[in-house]
Amino acid sequence: MSDSIRHIDVALGDRSYTVSIGPGLIDDTAQWRKALRGRHAMVISNSTVAPLYLERVTRGLDGLSWSSFLIDDGETHKSFANVGRALEALAHLGATRDACIIALGGGVVGDLAGFTAACWMRGIDFIQMPTTLLAMVDSSVGGKTGVNLPAGKNLVGAFHQPRAVMADTHTLATLPEREYRAGLAEVIKGAAIGDRAFFEWLERHADALAARDSYALIEAIARKVAYKAGVVSRDETEQGERALLNLGHTFGHALETAGNYTAMLHGEAVAMGMLLAARLSERLGMSEAIDTTRLHALLERVGLPTTIPAGMQADVLLALMRLDKKTLAGSLRLILWRGIGRAEIVAGVDEAAVTAVLTEACTH
Ligand code: NAD
Ligand code: GLY
Repeated sequence: MSDSIRHIDVALGDRSYTVSIGPGLIDDTAQWRKALRGRHAMVISNSTVAPLYLERVTRGLDGLSWSSFLIDDGETHKSFANVGRALEALAHLGATRDACIIALGGGVVGDLAGFTAACWMRGIDFIQMPTTLLAMVDSSVGGKTGVNLPAGKNLVGAFHQPRAVMADTHTLATLPEREYRAGLAEVIKGAAIGDRAFFEWLERHADALAARDSYALIEAIARKVAYKAGVVSRDETEQGERALLNLGHTFGHALETAGNYTAMLHGEAVAMGMLLAARLSERLGMSEAIDTTRLHALLERVGLPTTIPAGMQADVLLALMRLDKKTLAGSLRLILWRGIGRAEIVAGVDEAAVTAVLTEACTH
């Protein structure tokens, strides 16, 4: 196997698993077949990714009883209805308790496939084969699975860890530029929350990452995954530290909703949300202006948004932030930071300060 392949362990006792990162992993059948225990496998993918990569996966399923289940492309298809259909497809395959689901795609496919695996016979194995940068550095690692309801995103789900994650970086060659950059936001987020040395490394390699240099990319994915693996090992079910991974999310969700989920991709909204969280932290005296400036510069260098889309209003955004899942007993609870590499959960955040930050951002 190529020495550019990186392996990172997620330590969770007898549910531990390895995240492998590098070029050509989908074709390294011998490697990922080790994670399959039974005679049945079902690949879940979508209508965009399947024509590109499905055949390369199914070539590795020789000798097994297997099928594939495809959903249409898009967040709205991360639905209960599709989980129901996937479960019917498993029944049709005759899948037993030792069957394995393979999730081939971005976070939408990964979340839905993982939740399907959590439900079938009260939980079967699944392998994540992420094909977006966001899925490689975030959603495929850590076992959060689920689907959306009309009432809101990710309202239904389960913690169900994969048996292996195979991140084939060759697949990123077909990823649209905007999706790629949105994935970089999740890389920067990990460094901003808890790894100052990584943040400095990103500052040195921002241009290489923007240009998709493969050495820089594999190193960045590996560092972000290593950071997340540590957090998940210490706090699998988000009783404390794992919540820090949501830096920028309360602002970001408000931006996504205000833009009807079309103005900004999730990663773009997280990038802007992090910047707003940094500005708020600075205003509250928790961090220095230089940290905000460095975050702003790094986001800008990799082509992520640093301004709010025209037409959005501070009062609307604040109202949306109050609806966030992290809001407790009517008081705003946000992930803020004490500068690069140090985030913390702050309850009872002063709404006047939030309004001031939003108003300033909406008028510039
Ligand atoms: P996505 O799955 O919608 O993928 C983005 C787009 O890229 C889609 O159009 C997809 O078809 C396309 N695509 C995927 N791989 C491709 C490739 N290699 N070449 C060309 N096109 C490709 O979006 P995403 O950003 O990967 O994931 C977002 C989802 O992840 C959301 O549903 C979010 O809630 C979820 N998420 C989950 C977690 C978690 O911990 N479980 C964390 C973050 C986000
Ligand atoms: N994406 C946040 C988490 O996995 O906890």
